Amino acid sequence: MPIKKLDDQNPLTAGREVLVDYGQDEAMNRRINLERGHSDERVFGGGTTFFHPENSVLSEALLRGLLKITGMLDRGRRNAMDIVVRENPVVLPRLPQSFDGFTVLQISDLHLDSRPDFAPRLAEVVAPLEYDLCVLTGDYRFHTKGDVRPSLMGLSLLREALKGDAYAVLGNHDSAEMIPDMLAMGYELLYNASVPIRRDDQDIYLVGVDDPHFFQTDDLEKALIAVPRGITRILLAHSPEIYRVAESADVDFLVCGHTHGGQIALPGGKALYKNARCPSRLASGNWQYRSLKGYTSVGAGSSLLDVRFNCQPEVVLHRLHCP
Ligand SMILES: [Fe+2]
Repeated sequence: MPIKKLDDQNPLTAGREVLVDYGQDEAMNRRINLERGHSDERVFGGGTTFFHPENSVLSEALLRGLLKITGMLDRGRRNAMDIVVRENPVVLPRLPQSFDGFTVLQISDLHLDSRPDFAPRLAEVVAPLEYDLCVLTGDYRFHTKGDVRPSLMGLSLLREALKGDAYAVLGNHDSAEMIPDMLAMGYELLYNASVPIRRDDQDIYLVGVDDPHFFQTDDLEKALIAVPRGITRILLAHSPEIYRVAESADVDFLVCGHTHGGQIALPGGKALYKNARCPSRLASGNWQYRSLKGYTSVGAGSSLLDVRFNCQPEVVLHRLHCP
């Protein structure tokens, strides 16, 4: 990808240029090719699950119609705006002492252009929060194809509300087209890559992979190339579907989303559909698989339709602790 002149409509990136060179990157080239073929035909097949309701205009219309007839549409839309700030203490056995209490704000599945007042609401929720680092675990766009500009405007608004460094990975609703603008706004993209985080004289590593769900362009082996053995590894991935690979790669903590916790759940929170090839217990909240700890966020936004039932949208403050 060459130097790109950024969108003049966006006040944060207008007139700026960013160098994005993924020219020889096999995963990126594969993703770009798949994005070209990303159409309604992909409602069935492709990715790690057979059925992709998020790609179907028909599913959206059916759900909207059903909720309207039953008088539940407005309540579902109100629920989707009721974002909770969740506290999640996590004990990591080999966390360096200087990182005890280190706080990571996770925002997942933002789908920022779901409705015009969603991005301002999300920015309002995160603005007063205190944390050391922010991570975004993908799905910035509402639909899986089409204009990226409305979601970029949302990302720009959100960036103004975030403090310090913000690291991001892409989800199955996103496009590689968004990368230059995101970089110009001040997001760091971890595209099958890692970055050391230093506190006093000690390091942990933040590692990010591309979407393991639909595009399957995640390359954890490549992402870990620069990470020394024996050091705490926190992995950002859009979906928990990478859990087996992550565990075998000695990852300490997998931070992910994608499932929306079902988004529409039964009273008590049981999801009707998780849209991911992983055990149900990995589809929301805290979980452990052998030595790997994980957290699957139910997400801040909503897809297919901007409604939620029995599954409150969230942003998460992960507070890391030594044993
Ligand atoms: Fe999502």
